Amino acid sequence: MFDLPLYFIKISFVIGSTVAVAALLGIYKYQGSIIYPSGLNGARDHVDTPAEYGLAYEDLSLKTKDGETLNGYLLLHDKNSIDYTNKTVMILSPNAGNIGHFLPVVKYIYEQLRYNVLIYSYRGYGKSTGTPSETGLKIDADTVMEYVASHTQLAESSLVLYGRSLGGAVTLYIAAHYANLVAGIILENTFLSVRKVIPHIFPILSPFRALCHEIWASEDEIVRIPDTIPILFMSALEDEIVPPEHMRTLYELSKSKNKTWKAFAGAHHNDTIVQPKYWDYFYEFMRNINPVEK
Ligand SMILES: *[C@@H]1O[C@H](CO)[C@@H](O)[C@H](O)[C@H]1NC(C)=O
Ligand SMILES: *[C@@H]1O[C@H](CO)[C@@H](O)[C@H](O)[C@H]1NC(C)=O
Ligand SMILES: *[C@@H]1O[C@H](CO)[C@@H](O)[C@H](O)[C@H]1NC(C)=O
Repeated sequence: MFDLPLYFIKISFVIGSTVAVAALLGIYKYQGSIIYPSGLNGARDHVDTPAEYGLAYEDLSLKTKDGETLNGYLLLHDKNSIDYTNKTVMILSPNAGNIGHFLPVVKYIYEQLRYNVLIYSYRGYGKSTGTPSETGLKIDADTVMEYVASHTQLAESSLVLYGRSLGGAVTLYIAAHYANLVAGIILENTFLSVRKVIPHIFPILSPFRALCHEIWASEDEIVRIPDTIPILFMSALEDEIVPPEHMRTLYELSKSKNKTWKAFAGAHHNDTIVQPKYWDYFYEFMRNINPVEK
């Protein structure tokens, strides 16, 4: 009888720790769906195609070495036309939505700026099979770069990687590992690493960030990129998701002999692209990629 309070203390301790352990296991196990919310707003159910924007394209279906199938769109210009730019923009998507949401941007880059465009869905996104993870997305990037290397027109063109947020992390991975295929990099509102950005996005998970197995160590990748590759940094100074200091630090860490910093006062994480001058900076950078356009 007299043991009762002690019994309750013990039992609540056991329950308390069980709940805590379960919560930690939950965070560990389900962080993928937090970090890669690929199914939000029906983004897995329907993906717009370039045809819906009046664009001719090749629908890509690329097999990864671990059995996934990646969907992508390739838009090529006629390489024999007199105004052929011989440049390709490869778009690396952020972590929400799908490649269909990028089609207005694809259309602009393809039709107005006249560059070839390549865009694909990471595994577990859009119409690609599988479940997203850092390991998986890197295999996907390897798969796409093998495809680029095997495709004569793409491999001969000057390839510029263009990535926002998570797409910036994939961009830096590709540039560090396939530098010989990369002519330039455009980074927008990306982070130093997932662990360093967690306290800002999910303050309550801050104490557990060591449990985060999705790392995306962009701060390490950026220093591995050859200094000959030009990089354009576009940073929203009011970014509410990734603190702008992350972009600034990436800029400072970059060894590129040709790096350009463009900051947008009043811009947020996902509205930088609609700021005045954004496309002027984009085009100015692209135009100067070797060989320089007239
Ligand atoms: C594109 O540029 C590469 C490298 O400068 C060159 O080898 C290739 O012939 C060019 N292709 C076209 C169609 O101009
Ligand atoms: C930015 O994201 C918010 C919510 O995530 C959304 O409501 C808004 O339309 C987005 N803005 C742009 C320009 O994409
Ligand atoms: C650096 O990049 C700028 C803009 O892209 C370009 O005008 C310039 O020629 C480049 N300089 C070198 C040394 O590559």
